Amino acid sequence: MVAIATGVPADPTEAENPLTAGLERLPVGPTTLVIFGATGDLARRKLLPALYNLAHDGALPQRFHLIGVSRKEKAHEDYRAECEEAIRRFSRRAPDADVLKGLLENVKYVPGTFDNESVYAKLGELLDGFEKKAGEPLNRAFYLSTSPSFFPTIVEALGSSKLAHHEHAEVRVIIEKPFGTTLQEARELNRRVLSIFDETQVFRIDHYLGKETVQNMMAFRFANGMFEPLWNRNYIDSVQITAAEDLGVGTRAGYYDSAGALRDLIQNHMLQLLCHVAMEPPVSFTAEEVRNEKVKVLQSIPQPTPAEIPEMAVRAQYAAGHAGGEDVPGYLQEEGVPEDSTTETYAALRLEVDNWRWAGVPFYLRTGKRLARKITEIAVTLKPVPHLAFSQDGSLGVRPNQLVLTLQPNEGVSLRLGAKIPGTRMIIRPVNMEFLYGTAFLSQSPEAYERLITDAMRGDATLFTRNDEVEAQWRICDPIVKYWRGAKAGPLPQYPAGSQGPQEAAGLLRDSDQWRAI
Ligand code: BG6
Repeated sequence: MVAIATGVPADPTEAENPLTAGLERLPVGPTTLVIFGATGDLARRKLLPALYNLAHDGALPQRFHLIGVSRKEKAHEDYRAECEEAIRRFSRRAPDADVLKGLLENVKYVPGTFDNESVYAKLGELLDGFEKKAGEPLNRAFYLSTSPSFFPTIVEALGSSKLAHHEHAEVRVIIEKPFGTTLQEARELNRRVLSIFDETQVFRIDHYLGKETVQNMMAFRFANGMFEPLWNRNYIDSVQITAAEDLGVGTRAGYYDSAGALRDLIQNHMLQLLCHVAMEPPVSFTAEEVRNEKVKVLQSIPQPTPAEIPEMAVRAQYAAGHAGGEDVPGYLQEEGVPEDSTTETYAALRLEVDNWRWAGVPFYLRTGKRLARKITEIAVTLKPVPHLAFSQDGSLGVRPNQLVLTLQPNEGVSLRLGAKIPGTRMIIRPVNMEFLYGTAFLSQSPEAYERLITDAMRGDATLFTRNDEVEAQWRICDPIVKYWRGAKAGPLPQYPAGSQGPQEAAGLLRDSDQWRAI
C-alpha cells in the first residue's frame, strides 16, 4: 500500500508489472471516427469533450478525422461551432486554443436520416477523399450514439453500402447502450450486427468499464497477493454493490420511463461490477480471457423464477421529497413522465453466484435515482472472527472486517479494522485504513470515454461487452423485468426523494446484514 499511496514504485527494480509485461498496448492507427447522432446529448457531453482531451494529451492518431452524422441540415462550419461550444462547456479541462483548432480543422458534417442511402454514399466519398489526401488507407470507426431503435438500420446500411469492410484498413463499430431491452431483442440485435460485422469489429459500450476505479478493481485483486486467499465463501460473508444517484430523471424521461432502474443500471453497469468482484483471475489480460471469466460468473447466477422474484428483487419509485437543499417533485410529476407510470426508479436484488468460490454468499445490488447522495461503491464484508476473548464491554465495538471500494465520488479503498481505543481498558472500535486516489496520485483521472474511444480505435475489446456476455446479463434481468411489468407484481412501493430508498429493500437482507448508509 505504501508504494501505491505515493504513486512511486517501492523498489525501482520491481517497476515492471509481471501481469502486463508482454501485453504492450496496440498502437492507434490513423482513423476516421464517424459519430451517428452527432448532435445528441451523449456526443455533446461526453464524446466530443473526450476527443478534445485525447487531442490535448497527444493520444489521437496523427491522422484523425471526425465526421458527425445527424438529421438536421447544417454546414460543416456550423457543426464545428457546435463542437467547440460543447467542448468548452463540458470538457474536464479548459480548452487550449491551438489544440482545439487542430481538432476542429478535421471535422466534417453529413446531414440526413439514418435510413437514407445518400448519407452513406456521402460518407463513402468523404472517407475515400481523406484516404486519397493521406495517400494511405485509414481505419474507420463508426460510433452509434443514436436512439437504439436506429442501431439495426445503421448497421445494415453500412453493410449494404460496402462501408463495413475495407481491404487495407480496420473497420470497427462502437455501439452504445442499451443493447436491446430484453434478452430476445439483444439476441436479435446481435444476430443482425454479426450478419454484417465480425465480432472482433464490434465494441459494445458499458462506460463503467472505462472508469479508472473499475479497472483498478482488477489491479487491486490481481496485483496484490494478500486479498486473493480470502476472496471466497470461506472468508467473505456478503457483497453489497451500490450505485446511488441524487439526481432525478432530469430531461431523459422519454428514455428512462421505458427503461427503469433495472435495465438502466443493473443489467449492464452493476452486473459488470459484480463480475469484477467474482471473476476468477484470467490467465492474461487479453479481451478474450477477461471476458471468458466474466461470462462464467454471469452463467453461475441462476436465472430467477417467478416464484423467487418477490423474495430477491425490490423495486420502487421516488415520491416528492427534499434533495440537495430544496423541495423536489416525485417521479410522476417530472416533465415527460406519464402520470400513471409504474416504472421503477429504484431496484435492489439479492443474487447468488452458484460456483465453488461463491456458493452461499449473497451479492446485494441496489441502485436508484433521487437517493440521499451520489455514491458508487462495493462493500465486501468478511465473516466475523470465530471467538471473542475480550470482556463483554471490550467486544461491543468489534465488527467484521469490511473492505469498501469507492468508485465515485471519493475514489479509493478503505479497510475496516478493529483497533483498541487508547487507554487503560481493552475496548475495541472500528477504524478505517484508507487509500484515496486523489491524494495518492495527484493527477486527474481521464473520463471513461477517453479510454474507451482509444481502445476501440486500437482494436482492444477488453473493456467492451462481448455478444454472449450481454446476452448472459439479459438472461438474469429479463424474468424480473417481465414479472414487474405483469399482473402479479403488486403495488409499487414509493420512497421520498433524498432518502435511503424504500423500506421494503430491507426485506432482501439476512437478519445479520444491513444496507450501508447512502
Ligand atoms: C447511465 C444511465 O448509463 O449511467 C444513467 O443511463 C446514469 O441513468 C448513468 O445516470 C450513471 O453514470 P455515472 O458515470 O454518472 O455513474
